[in-house]
Amino acid sequence: MRSFLKPLWAAALLFPLQAAMAQTPVYLDDSKPIEDRVEDALSRMTLEEKVALCHAQSKFSSAGVPRLGLPENWMTDGPHGIRPEVAWDEWVQAGWTNDSCMAFPALTCLAATWNPDMSLRYGRAIGEEARYRNKNVLLGPGVNIYRTPLNGRNFEYMGEDPYLASEMVVPYIQGVQSCGVAACVKHFALNNQEYDRFGVDVEVSDRALYEIYLPAFKAAVQRGEAWAIMGSYNLYRGQHCCHNQRLLNDILRGEWGFDGVVVSDWGGVHNTREAAYNGLDMEFGTGTDGLSVSASDAYNHYFLARPFLEQIKAGVIPESVVDGKVRNILRMMFRTTMNPNRPYGSFEDPAHGEAARQIAEEGIVLLQNRDNTLPIRLEKTRKILVVGENAIKMMTVGGGSSSLKAQYEISPLDGLRARVGSAAEVVYARGYVGNIDGSYNGVVSKVDLSESRSADELLAEAVALARESDYVIFVGGLNKNSHQDCEGGDRYDYGLPYNQDRLIEALAEINPRTVVVLVSGNSVAMPWADRVGAIVEGWYCGSEAGHALAAVLVGDVNPSGKLPFTMCTRLEDYHAHALNDSLVYPGVNHREVYKDDIFVGYRWSDKQKKNHRPLFCFGHGLSYTTFEYGKAVLDRKQMTEADSLRVCVSVKNTGSRAGAEVVQLYVSDLKSSLPRPIKELKGFRKVMLQPGESREVEFVLDRTSLSYFDDAKHAWVAEPGRFEVLIGASAEDIRSRVGFELK
Ligand code: GLC
Repeated sequence: MRSFLKPLWAAALLFPLQAAMAQTPVYLDDSKPIEDRVEDALSRMTLEEKVALCHAQSKFSSAGVPRLGLPENWMTDGPHGIRPEVAWDEWVQAGWTNDSCMAFPALTCLAATWNPDMSLRYGRAIGEEARYRNKNVLLGPGVNIYRTPLNGRNFEYMGEDPYLASEMVVPYIQGVQSCGVAACVKHFALNNQEYDRFGVDVEVSDRALYEIYLPAFKAAVQRGEAWAIMGSYNLYRGQHCCHNQRLLNDILRGEWGFDGVVVSDWGGVHNTREAAYNGLDMEFGTGTDGLSVSASDAYNHYFLARPFLEQIKAGVIPESVVDGKVRNILRMMFRTTMNPNRPYGSFEDPAHGEAARQIAEEGIVLLQNRDNTLPIRLEKTRKILVVGENAIKMMTVGGGSSSLKAQYEISPLDGLRARVGSAAEVVYARGYVGNIDGSYNGVVSKVDLSESRSADELLAEAVALARESDYVIFVGGLNKNSHQDCEGGDRYDYGLPYNQDRLIEALAEINPRTVVVLVSGNSVAMPWADRVGAIVEGWYCGSEAGHALAAVLVGDVNPSGKLPFTMCTRLEDYHAHALNDSLVYPGVNHREVYKDDIFVGYRWSDKQKKNHRPLFCFGHGLSYTTFEYGKAVLDRKQMTEADSLRVCVSVKNTGSRAGAEVVQLYVSDLKSSLPRPIKELKGFRKVMLQPGESREVEFVLDRTSLSYFDDAKHAWVAEPGRFEVLIGASAEDIRSRVGFELK
């Protein structure tokens, strides 16, 4: 080609390319604001493409817009780890061999750390695993309030107090979303039991709704800026929560300004009209009108699929309704899959195991330690007996949708053996047989729990060995089998199952250094509490459970966990059960009335007579060292609504080893025109102190710390009058109190 022609040819070729480049569509230009990209993408979509975004295309995914290069949305359970891949339209495993995850501790354990830094760490680690597995929505965390100790899913949530759950859920969400994965906080709302979960219609006062059951969701949305939220199965005011006008449109969108996506629980959608108008964006898990779920076009039968499309085409439902949903879904996509700056995540990452272990170590609660039974003094120990099925039973398998296929799970027995090594002999006795099943959706526990001996033989063996051992570590509690700590059903009673009480008493009779470790997510009756040396709440700690528990038992780690819920002596000491009214729990003919109202947990037990005090109260947890508190000092004796109040208190480690203490601040409104709890948690700080070290801890209170929700005014009210600040090491162990006036 003549040399002078080349530039002309080049220009002729380049120009259209440049022109094309110059026309990069706004939705594909990540330098443009997300809202512009949303509008541009929406404007390019057909009605069919819009409707397809609003419902599942498989068990855990929904369509993207292939024509426009907009990817699919992939959801994954759950709050404690990334669920193994399931087949397209099945619950059973897809049979992948590269999807074994880190099993993090249950969220009750995370809440028991009372350490928001641990929440952030947790969210980042689980977010990295979700990101690596190319899931852009994590179906968690759960923050339903612990109202009854029988609720099968309390282990997935963050306890009884709205302030603690709020403070602990926000960093988890921030951590997950820092990985470019949407957290989907659940189950919104009033899903406080598993009994009749698909059909129970909850009645609750606005005071209890706004003061107890909504705050953690509000914090998740407003402070955590959650990109997604999951509606719950139950009903509220006669409407299913997955398409509930008041919860989703009036409160979530209207009052809280939520701009994310509302996802249904799986099978939580019941009709097209409500799903269209009452705030739902994405429908998952619907049974398809009697069609078998494997029917080829089953997903077209979803309420937000063909029926929705046809009603829009017929002009029955305006297209603006689907546009509103698609905007929310596209916004989530531009925050996740369409964000080119997302990190890449990681999997099988030792840092995740490290995080899981530290969260577990900080969450384990030392409930009782008579005569300093713990820590185990290895140098003076010849033989340790470990007793109980939960010392060997896998707990990462089962429990419902939070069940996992973990890369590994260190059992309490393995953890203790690894830690003790040759320093002492560690022997094991089964002690009792609980539930030998350990499989879920095709993931099978690797431990063979079969046992032929009788209960008496097992007890006799354990007692004989206890006689000759320096320590007896009983590892029992509940498990992830149905009607224990498991989705889909509540527990039938408050006591330990499988006759564990008889065995614990027999062991304690023989050996005063009997330690009871409860592996559980709920409180249980402990009739043997005053006969055993130590009691430890070991939670479900996931992959690193055995290492963390052993570290606490031998004293490598000084326990610092505090209870996120009240442990009463008897079931009827819980308000929901004290009223002895089936309407209050578990409901009658699909109707349940929360007559316990705002007096849940310590808010109830504070009002009880001395002889009904909790066995172990909210915020309780012992240490291997001791702490002394100074007097709480306020920076003012009077404040107005506009002011903030500074509270300072010193805390000193008066023992011989380093340890962390959770300084708790409660507020008491001494005189109010509406009934209020005696005190309410409004601040906490976890401080690590060396022996002899003292630290000034400062809290800042404002009107929100003093307010109650006035349902008549539909507003938060800080009522002038006398208040008290109570500083405590737990709800019952108040170390200092000081009054002030709100003018
Ligand atoms: C389950 C649970 C929900 C879970 C979903 C998907 O029924 O209620 O927490 O995320 O369905 O498995």
